[in-house]
Amino acid sequence: MKRKSIVSLLLGTTAATLCLLVLPASGAVEDVNFDVSTKAPGYSVKGRRGAHKTKTGLEIPLELKHSHHHEGIDLYGKTIKDLVVDVDFETADRIHVKISDKDQKQVPVPDSPLGIERPRLRKSAKKRNYEFKYTEDPFGFQVIRKSDKAVIFDTTDYPLVFEDQYLEITTAVPDDANIYGFGETTIPHFRRDNVKNVTTIFARDAACPFYENIYGHHPFYMEIRDGKAHGSLLLSAHGMDVLTVEGRITWKVIGGVLEFYIFVPDDDKPNSVVQSYTDLIGKPMMVSRWMLGWHHCRWGYEDIDQVQGVIDGYKEHNIPLEVAWVDIDYMDTFQDFTFDPVNFPQERMIQLGHDLHANRQRYVIMVNAGKHYKSGYEGYEYGHDLDIFMKNPDGEEYVGQVWPGYTVYPDWFNPDVSKYWNKLIADWVELTGIDGTWVDMDEPAAFCLGSCGTGKKDQAPPSLEPWTLPQETQDQMYAEEEIAIKNLSNYVQDSRDLLYPNYAINNGHGNLSVKTGSMIAYHHGDIPHYDLHSLYGHAECKLTRDALIEHNKTTRPFILTRSSFVGSGRYAGHWTGDNASKWEYLKSSITEIFNMQMFGISYSGSDVCGFNDNTTETLCTRWQELGAFYPFARNHNAKQPIAQEPFLWETAAEATRTALAIRYALLPYYYTLFEESNRLGTGVWRPLIFEWPHVDAFLDNDDQILVGSDILLSPVVYENKTSVEAEFPPGIWYDWYTLETVDDQGATGKERAITLDAPLTHIPVHIRGGAILPLKTPTMLVEETFDSPYILLVALDDSGEAQGRLYIDDGHSLEPSETSDITFTFKNGVLKAEGDFGYSKPEKLDTIKIVGDIDATTASITDCSTPADNLELVKEDNAIVLQNAGIDLTASFTVRFE
Ligand code: NOJ
Repeated sequence: MKRKSIVSLLLGTTAATLCLLVLPASGAVEDVNFDVSTKAPGYSVKGRRGAHKTKTGLEIPLELKHSHHHEGIDLYGKTIKDLVVDVDFETADRIHVKISDKDQKQVPVPDSPLGIERPRLRKSAKKRNYEFKYTEDPFGFQVIRKSDKAVIFDTTDYPLVFEDQYLEITTAVPDDANIYGFGETTIPHFRRDNVKNVTTIFARDAACPFYENIYGHHPFYMEIRDGKAHGSLLLSAHGMDVLTVEGRITWKVIGGVLEFYIFVPDDDKPNSVVQSYTDLIGKPMMVSRWMLGWHHCRWGYEDIDQVQGVIDGYKEHNIPLEVAWVDIDYMDTFQDFTFDPVNFPQERMIQLGHDLHANRQRYVIMVNAGKHYKSGYEGYEYGHDLDIFMKNPDGEEYVGQVWPGYTVYPDWFNPDVSKYWNKLIADWVELTGIDGTWVDMDEPAAFCLGSCGTGKKDQAPPSLEPWTLPQETQDQMYAEEEIAIKNLSNYVQDSRDLLYPNYAINNGHGNLSVKTGSMIAYHHGDIPHYDLHSLYGHAECKLTRDALIEHNKTTRPFILTRSSFVGSGRYAGHWTGDNASKWEYLKSSITEIFNMQMFGISYSGSDVCGFNDNTTETLCTRWQELGAFYPFARNHNAKQPIAQEPFLWETAAEATRTALAIRYALLPYYYTLFEESNRLGTGVWRPLIFEWPHVDAFLDNDDQILVGSDILLSPVVYENKTSVEAEFPPGIWYDWYTLETVDDQGATGKERAITLDAPLTHIPVHIRGGAILPLKTPTMLVEETFDSPYILLVALDDSGEAQGRLYIDDGHSLEPSETSDITFTFKNGVLKAEGDFGYSKPEKLDTIKIVGDIDATTASITDCSTPADNLELVKEDNAIVLQNAGIDLTASFTVRFE
């Protein structure tokens, strides 16, 4: 078993100032075995009956092929001889291929909301965009896209290995395949380097070391081949290495079954792959409008006055602040649901919530996964009475260590846990009036190895921050903990080696139980943590959402989670964890957010200005500028580094004001995109290649970002740069600030490269010709911004046409009773608004700005319920503006420009 030094083990969340950051050149790792197991005998189709049809597809029994001298058998575990392949033609664009052990001893991802809600099918899909083929001896399978006969998944040239603790399968891909996805990991580039790359997937608390496994578990990828996209998910919660090597992708997994879903949409578009993927795993949650405002947080505010000072600072400097956050600092000895009586007294914390709400601002505070192992503490006692904590193999409570000291962990898989959690959450929300919860350390995180607190109720560990102890002491503690965990393993009744599986995935911490729940801690139904580890945070999100809804049945819940799994986006948003104040992290935040969008977690962002290490004026300014456009936009800092509130530097303040004014102007556009995301699954942030999959130049463009399909950001993400080498897709693109087109600025070539000026406080933003954007007049607050009348910005394309969409509801209801879904089109000088106008509260449209080649001198509004009498048409540079339109957005209307 690979064993890392204790120092590197503890370079996580907790060792902010120790964080030594070296960015490797690629994801290639020396001691990983990239080879396929060529000696493995593989499997063949079994019996006389062989493969046979089922109502939903095929069932193919497999048996292990004979192997001379047992060569290639029991490579890292016990070979399982009899397998079953279930093939389900689920929908036109989705096929399910599950290879499992006949005896069903292996643990799949649970078929429940805590895992995934698998569709219940009665028959197979008639229309299919794919064909399924298999070979009998040895068994292998292919999925072929019908539209171009491309073989998009092909295991036939590689052995299948199926052991209890080692599963290996390989698909062939083109040598230079364009692969995106697989996470969660911090990587600078969106397109996978496929020379020799390993992505390890296993939820882990680690401060974002490049190329290593971190908080979330997402074994999904998309491939774009010849402009056509497909996707594939290996639905497994077990630790795995995914090797992307020239010509193939190989999965090496330490348990469970091999359950693939392959997505082949009709139109082969990348966005449709994401839609198809989220049809299966669930659509991203719908946000409330306020969530789209600017958030500020810091770990390490000493008292509530400092929090208030920051809120005041934003106001004094005229920078919007929508949501004030409080980290663990408010807690009494870091126990969830308690207050530090001196520095964050209860009555002042409650008052802070009232004050924020009185100013139409919002309030979010943190909860952690581990609960203090302490007599008299409700978070412990109530859970103990209900018997809902994770257990050791001897049946006692499993006790790790987190911020408060020794901690127990709610077992989210225990049916009684909802009773516990619903009560604690309801009481807490009731008391504090918070608008949402921040669920942290839910990998789950632990500072010791194994059940280090067993028998130590009410005692304090040697240190609350063990990584600060002398190295020798830490080594000694670790050695003792290792002995204790091995002793406990004597109680384990499992033929597998759960602590030290023979195949060591390239887990950044080496030993799987380090800095997390012990692999031999148990969940309800005697399922070891080994089999459910990466689902812990996901299940916590699901139950937290349920608890929030149970308490308040009408309002959209707000949860931000650090750990996530396939489908977590239904329940929560995600921030990319403990990055550092380094340019590399500003740059990689783009890739990470792209990945999250693809994984169905649209509401995602990175800690703006960087979490660990000291930021600088320039870095923070650039980061604020880009962060202002993150789907989830929050400045967050660790406790040791220098302060980084954006008003501390004039440049950062100015850049923030400018960028947030654009974000707030775009709020209706963002909100409409989030509704689309919630309905279809598409990302709010998109790489250029998702919209223009046939433009090869975009295959590896991860410096620019599309917000939806109509706003293009070209941020500066490199040090000492004041210009951006930007590429522009076909068509007209207008500069947000000047409304000039990029062609006027000299964009040339096929992909139309152009160097854009980007002085320190400026982020280049462009509008797609052909788009109609619903806007507002930005103010300091989201709801105040929404109170102002709508503005339509019509950006004409080459043919003088444009279209756009606006979604309206009340901005916060879980099931809004009234909604409007309006389509705008502009053609031949005529703007039309049509669609559903169910939202009855009058929403005014006052201003229509038409940008581009238009030469009208008069405008008239027809079919409108409220004709305006003082219309004014004003000519501006590159635009005409119709003012005082006074249109009620409650019915269709037409505006003619002549
Ligand atoms: C770890 C989280 O990742 C970080 O954002 C937070 O500030 C600290 N825990 C302290 O709660």
